[in-house]
Amino acid sequence: MSDPRPIKIFDTTLRDGEQSPGASMNLQEKLEIAQALIDLKVDVIEAGFPIASPGDFEAVQEIATNFRGSTICGLARCNDADIDRAWDAVKLAAAPRIHVFLATSAVHREFKLRMSQEEILERTIAGVKRAVGYCDDVEFSPEDAARTEHEFLCKVVEQAIDAGATTVNIPDTVGYAVPQQLGSTINMLRNKVPNIEQAIISIHCHNDLGLAVANSLSAVEQGAGQIECTINGIGERAGNCSLEEIVMALQTRADYYDCTTKIETRRLVPTSRLVSSITGIEVQRNKAIVGRNAFAHEAGIHQDGMLKERTTYEIMRPEDVGFTKTDLVLGKHSGRAALADRAKALGYHLNGEQLLGVFEEFKKLADKKKEVYDGDIVALAQQQLQITSRGEWQLISYDLQSTSTGEHRVCVHLQCGDIQKTTESTDGDGPVNAAFSAIEEITGIKMKCKDFQLRSATIGRDAQGEATIEVEYQGSNFRGRGVSTNTMEATIKAILNVVNRIAVSGSDNSAET
Ligand code: KIV
Ligand code: ZN
Repeated sequence: MSDPRPIKIFDTTLRDGEQSPGASMNLQEKLEIAQALIDLKVDVIEAGFPIASPGDFEAVQEIATNFRGSTICGLARCNDADIDRAWDAVKLAAAPRIHVFLATSAVHREFKLRMSQEEILERTIAGVKRAVGYCDDVEFSPEDAARTEHEFLCKVVEQAIDAGATTVNIPDTVGYAVPQQLGSTINMLRNKVPNIEQAIISIHCHNDLGLAVANSLSAVEQGAGQIECTINGIGERAGNCSLEEIVMALQTRADYYDCTTKIETRRLVPTSRLVSSITGIEVQRNKAIVGRNAFAHEAGIHQDGMLKERTTYEIMRPEDVGFTKTDLVLGKHSGRAALADRAKALGYHLNGEQLLGVFEEFKKLADKKKEVYDGDIVALAQQQLQITSRGEWQLISYDLQSTSTGEHRVCVHLQCGDIQKTTESTDGDGPVNAAFSAIEEITGIKMKCKDFQLRSATIGRDAQGEATIEVEYQGSNFRGRGVSTNTMEATIKAILNVVNRIAVSGSDNSAET
């Protein structure tokens, strides 16, 4: 019997995932996620799109310089400036990769690029050659490949490999493909492209029809050797292929696919929680693999079956994907080492200063609450990561009066570096509205609130409240989170988190994919 076929997992949470509306992350948050992806043992981390903004460049460069264990990849359009910038960002990685893309479908050629097939072929060859001049590991993506004429797709793929691409990625950019069709496209490429054996075929599926995982599995069945995916399936529009789902499908049905990945599956749940808390994009309860109900058995018949024999109703073990039996972990007598240990298991690698900050808050919380859960630690660690720069607005104190007769007065006292400001607002129909107005007046940033959610971070009536806010500012969406045992304080912190993200964003969106 031959060994199972190894499949590379290419994670694009930091690039395509970050393109989810409102999911933009700051440097510190990207570094946290990069560390979690290394711990998860993904083969490739697509760390960003270096030409898109100075912030993107810096994040890719930092990740390339400081993280070892995975290939670090930077995205580039098929032009010299993008490719040079991508190389500059990844060149200090132990294993760098440049990922060059150019659209090939008729609709993109005609309306977006205004280029003929010949021009696309020329640009592909020139772009791949330029990248190969810098780096041995070059990936080429014919964007919208799934809607590209087969004959032309074969030509582009052949020329890209001839020019030196070591991976050819087949994106279903708009999530239009269906499983059998995409599988047969991969099969067709393997049969018709003469030099196809010289490169790894990769698959990159979007989830517009809810088929990204099924389409990727079909591509693997037909010989694809790399899957591009994101944690929790976040990404443009309906998102990308979900990493945890595809990995567990390959593992659970190894009898059928006869493939393996290197993924440390016990890191899936902590990584999912980390990405969710950083991006503010919640994981639906019934989400496969990592949702809170993914292993919850409600029906009596199911519970009875489970007690008699687990496999009657369970095809995977919750502990294999990182669910712990109990998440009650620490109390007021727990020490710093225990806290650091638990934070690390949850995906947070805190440095000395950050650990000290979390420990102080943990002690205060443990005084208020008897039991401190994993969810509390995630909330505290996340809150600590937000307190990074002196140049950001922070809450010093607030005062609130709100009555059922409709009077709402919020007074906030904020600090940014050496500046301290206090203002009062009685605006609007409730305290949240008044808090927005007060913060807008102090910071000068006027936002349109698109979503506001309040939920408990853990269980019990003394649980911490977690506020998540999404706003629109100058045509872009921003998200923020705040946590406190006091829900109004959590809300104010979430608004400030949004304001700080807006202040540091400054991304120029001219380099959109
Ligand atoms: O969806 C897509 O086509 C992409 C490419 C840049 C690979 O994300
Ligand atoms: Zn994509």
